[in-house]
Amino acid sequence: MRFEIFTLFPEVFSPYLESSIIQKAQDLELVEFHLHNIRKWAIDKHHITDDEPYGGGGGMVMKPEPIFAAVEDILGSPPDCPVILLTPQGRLFTQEIAWELSQYPHIGLLAGRYEGVDERVRKHLVSDEISIGDYVLTGGELPALVVLDAIIRLLPGVLGDPMAPLKDSHANGLLEYPHYTRPSTFRGWSVPEILRSGNHAEIARWRRAQALKRTWQRRPDLLKGAELSAEDKEFLSNLDEIKDEDKDDRGA
Ligand code: ADE
Repeated sequence: MRFEIFTLFPEVFSPYLESSIIQKAQDLELVEFHLHNIRKWAIDKHHITDDEPYGGGGGMVMKPEPIFAAVEDILGSPPDCPVILLTPQGRLFTQEIAWELSQYPHIGLLAGRYEGVDERVRKHLVSDEISIGDYVLTGGELPALVVLDAIIRLLPGVLGDPMAPLKDSHANGLLEYPHYTRPSTFRGWSVPEILRSGNHAEIARWRRAQALKRTWQRRPDLLKGAELSAEDKEFLSNLDEIKDEDKDDRGA
C-alpha cells in the first residue's frame, strides 16, 4: 500500500514511520510513504502557504493554490486515489473506517494547519474528511499518523500473528479481554487461575465473558452495535443486577 502525505511539516513523520512495526512493514515492501512538503508548490518568492481569512477574524487559513498544485502534481487531476483531509470536522475515525481504508492500494493524506484550509480544498479536491476525536490539535500531522498506523497494522503480513487484528479491542464491536504475562504473581497480585489451566475452551469462555464485562463497564454504548449470542445476552443481563459502585474493579 502506498501513502502520499501532504504536509507543511514532513519532518514530524519520519521518526515514527522509521520505528518498530511500521519500519518493518516498509522493509518487507508492504507499505511505502512519500512525504510532500506543500511549501514546495508555493510559487511566490517567500513560499507563502497561508493568508488572512476573508471576512476577518483571527488566525490564518491555508491557501488553496499550493495544496491543489501539490496534490494534482502527485496524484493527477482529478486525483486517481482517495485524498483524505484530516480535520476536526471530518467523520469520526473508527476501526471500521481503518478496515475500509486498508482495502485501497493508494491513499493521499492531507494534514491541515492553522485555522484550517480554504473551503475550496474541501469542496473540490479531497474525497473524504476524517477527525480522530472531538478535540482540536495544532495540525493534521498527528491525526494522519494515527490513521496510517491503524491501517498499516491491518495489512496482511504486517503483524506476526495474522489473526491479531481480528482479536483487537473494537474488532468485533467489543473491548478486548485483559492480558497477563509472567510472573504469575507480582506484588501479591496473581494471574487468574483459569489462564494457567491449559483448558482452551474454558479460557475462550472466560475471555469472552471478560470482554463483555469490560465493554459493559466502560463503553456500554458499544454493546448496541456488537454481535451477541444468546449466551452473551444472558451473561449481560446478569451483570445488569450488579450495583453501580461494584462496577469498577480498579485496586480490587
Ligand atoms: N486537526 C486538528 N485537530 C484534528 C482532529 N481532532 N482530527 C483530525 N484532524 C485534526
